[in-house]
Amino acid sequence: MSETSQVKPNYNYKVVRQFTIMTIVWGIVGMSVGVLIAAQLFAPALNFDIPWLTYSRLRPLHTNAVIFAFGGCALFATSYYIVQRTCQVRLFSDKLATFTFWGWQAVIVLAAVTLPLGITASKEYAELEWPIDILIALVWIAYIINFFGTLIIRKTSHIYVANWFLGGFMLTVAVLHIGNSMAIPVSMTKSYSIYAGAVDAMMQWWYGHNAVGFFLTAGFLGMMYYFVPKQAGRPVYSYRLSIVHFWALVSLYIWAGPHHLHYTALPDWTQSLGMVMSVILFVPSWGGMINGIMTLSGAWHKLRTDPILRFLIVSLSFYGMSTFEGPMMAIKTVNALSHYTDWTVGHVHSGALGWVAMVSIGSVYHLIPILFGQPKMYSTKLINIHFWLATIGVVLYIVAMWMSGVLQGLMWRAVNADGTLTYSFVESLEASKPFYVVRFIGGVFVVAGMLIMAYNCYRTVTAPKSASVEGELALGGAK
Ligand code: HEM
Ligand code: HEM
Repeated sequence: MSETSQVKPNYNYKVVRQFTIMTIVWGIVGMSVGVLIAAQLFAPALNFDIPWLTYSRLRPLHTNAVIFAFGGCALFATSYYIVQRTCQVRLFSDKLATFTFWGWQAVIVLAAVTLPLGITASKEYAELEWPIDILIALVWIAYIINFFGTLIIRKTSHIYVANWFLGGFMLTVAVLHIGNSMAIPVSMTKSYSIYAGAVDAMMQWWYGHNAVGFFLTAGFLGMMYYFVPKQAGRPVYSYRLSIVHFWALVSLYIWAGPHHLHYTALPDWTQSLGMVMSVILFVPSWGGMINGIMTLSGAWHKLRTDPILRFLIVSLSFYGMSTFEGPMMAIKTVNALSHYTDWTVGHVHSGALGWVAMVSIGSVYHLIPILFGQPKMYSTKLINIHFWLATIGVVLYIVAMWMSGVLQGLMWRAVNADGTLTYSFVESLEASKPFYVVRFIGGVFVVAGMLIMAYNCYRTVTAPKSASVEGELALGGAK
């Protein structure tokens, strides 16, 4: 072996550390806002008659904080880590890395200020107004240049599959964000979409669904393909399947958007196309899920002692559940019952909390000791407690929403013999109330787990460093 190949590349861990810490911080903030709005749904007085605290303003704050602040920081951290480790080379540009970190934090702070003030473009998951949209586009393009630049200067001959998912996620999100945000500004805080009517709706859900498909799925699958094999100490179950998974997933997801617009002014054939593509999407989704879980073949016993692995594997189980449920809800006759009800909210959180949050949490627990030069996390017992709080919390949340959703759907469609409605809307609201309380309790469990995580990470980061890892850290992350 030549001397150079024995020297560890001088990785940029600084940016990974920054994004990892902010993942935890924004996770706590975003989920706490989730708990507050969950409480407002059964105790509306909790808005204290203050405009900034009304449900309509805090709800988009919650979705932006959990998806783009918590999920986004987790994706930045892990993608910068994975691409360096699998390409055996330092990031293409430290300056661009620093710009993406501070630029992304600026976007988050601007969102946290403008959304409670009621400044919004009124498009779900794309609420931020045009100056912030431009900043997002700049940060994202810098991110793409840095990621693909690193791939180009790689020292390995092969591009590991996690990078395919991460690269696909980055490119598609750029196209989605720029395409859907096209607007004509009338002032610094107000703009109007260049699209109108059914075309606007179609663009919005092409964006919205692929925000799910690429931001909340492809990016996190990239994370899964790196951290599951690493934590399990096993190679990916089938590398061939992972490549088929990638191409099948990206080519199908992009067509599925119209399932958000069943029974609307959208042409009927587009709705049917969206439905069919969504049903087929079940196959690659489960292919990926099985590939991840089967990576544990021969190492199942590790689940007994390793709560980090448990986070990763349970996240895959929730991924499997939500990608079975999604195709089912995309069938028009099922959607006729589920749409507008809490069933959708249950589905969202089995994907977002069960899959996205849990795979991120597992990956962060894997990363923290490596990034801060420690042999392991401060307390495995606390990780275990977090695991159970998160799992019980998610299950309470989604089961409550399934029950409330199906109940609402059935109550709204019940008709008497003379054709009048059996139940008034208020009666369905009253019936939902106990489930809202259960969802709130589930949310409190999840946030309690996050606080324990913050404490555990703080103790790990501040513990005295062992001499051997200190050297590693100096090599990997001094800059
Ligand atoms: C403690 C954890 C959480 C709680 C208590 C919570 C609570 C809520 C509540 C009450 C809503 C509004 C539902 C409605 O309008 O009927 C909501 C919506 C939403 N949340 Fe969460 N949430 C949590 C975590 C998360 C996470 C981690 C994510 C994503 C990574 C997420 C993504 C979303 C999305 C996308 C919506 C909009 C759903 C839709 O429009 O159908 N949430 N959440
Ligand atoms: C094969 C995969 C999936 C399919 C076919 C699918 C399908 C669907 C369908 C039919 C809806 C309801 C649309 C409506 O009635 O308005 C929906 C909503 C939603 N799904 Fe999925 N889903 C899938 C996976 C996921 C995953 C893994 C996540 C999260 C990580 C997720 C997040 C969401 C969100 C956030 C919404 C709510 C959008 C909104 O109305 O605001 N989905 N999905």
